[in-house]
Amino acid sequence: MGEGIEVSEAGGVIELRLDRADKKNALTAAMYHTLTAALAEASTRADVDAVLIAGNGDAFCAGNDIKDFLAPGGGEAAFEFIRAIAAFDKPLVAAVQGLAVGVGTTMLLHCDLVYAAPDARFVMPFVNLGIVPEAGSSLLLPARIGHAKAAAMLLLGEPMDAASAEASGLVTAIVPAEKLLDHARAKAIALTQRPPEALAHTRRLMKGDTAALSERIDVESGLFQQCMQSAEAREAFMAFLEKRPPNFRRAGPA
Ligand code: COA
Repeated sequence: MGEGIEVSEAGGVIELRLDRADKKNALTAAMYHTLTAALAEASTRADVDAVLIAGNGDAFCAGNDIKDFLAPGGGEAAFEFIRAIAAFDKPLVAAVQGLAVGVGTTMLLHCDLVYAAPDARFVMPFVNLGIVPEAGSSLLLPARIGHAKAAAMLLLGEPMDAASAEASGLVTAIVPAEKLLDHARAKAIALTQRPPEALAHTRRLMKGDTAALSERIDVESGLFQQCMQSAEAREAFMAFLEKRPPNFRRAGPA
């Protein structure tokens, strides 16, 4: 347990650091399990008031580890984590540097405060991989940044830079890279100093009715798993693993 994730805590904040920098913090099933367990612990402990998610190295997170994800049952851990972060009942803060790909961006839609370094880039290339958005992003992203901007990200898989992400409401603020983690930590600590009941009520009010979100996560998960079996998805994943461009014309029926 704990492989690829550094878990620490200070002053009522649990800090989860993605720690697989040589693979751009791509998430394996073991890493998802650790994250999910840490959120469960944070939720039940009265002495924990907030959770901070950050990444070691030059990228925040390159999304699902593609090789690991293709292993039998590979997606299960990811979907468990998605359900856990979507339902998490305490404030979540994120510090993002460099690339945030796939779930590296969609998890941020469940965070309350997102601080980004100027080099942060947000990409949800699901369509280019022959799959569909997850973590409720098909619902949350258009609601957050508007349909037109969301379409460029989800239908074309275009990246968004930090400045545009700040302007469109995907991130709270841009912070110089060398101050990013300290800034995010200070904001997480600031949350622990707010009256807890008022904070919890306010957060629930801001989230609104979560039933539609939960239903969308289930629909997305079903489609995602279905698409994973398609010839085009297999071609996209194999192309990544074989370090070559995909050729969708060659992909026959599944
Ligand atoms: N799954 C598995 N391995 C990954 C990975 C992922 N999602 N993202 C990066 N890696 C690995 C690379 O294979 C490489 O491994 P190697 O050193 O053994 O060859 C290492 O991490 C470094 O990545 P590299 O591609 O060399 O870095 P880069 O700076 O040129 O590109 C990315 C970084 C993130 C743009 C690129 O790795 C990428 O497109 N990754 C896939 C992202 C993705 O599609 N995620 C969504 C999955 S649903």
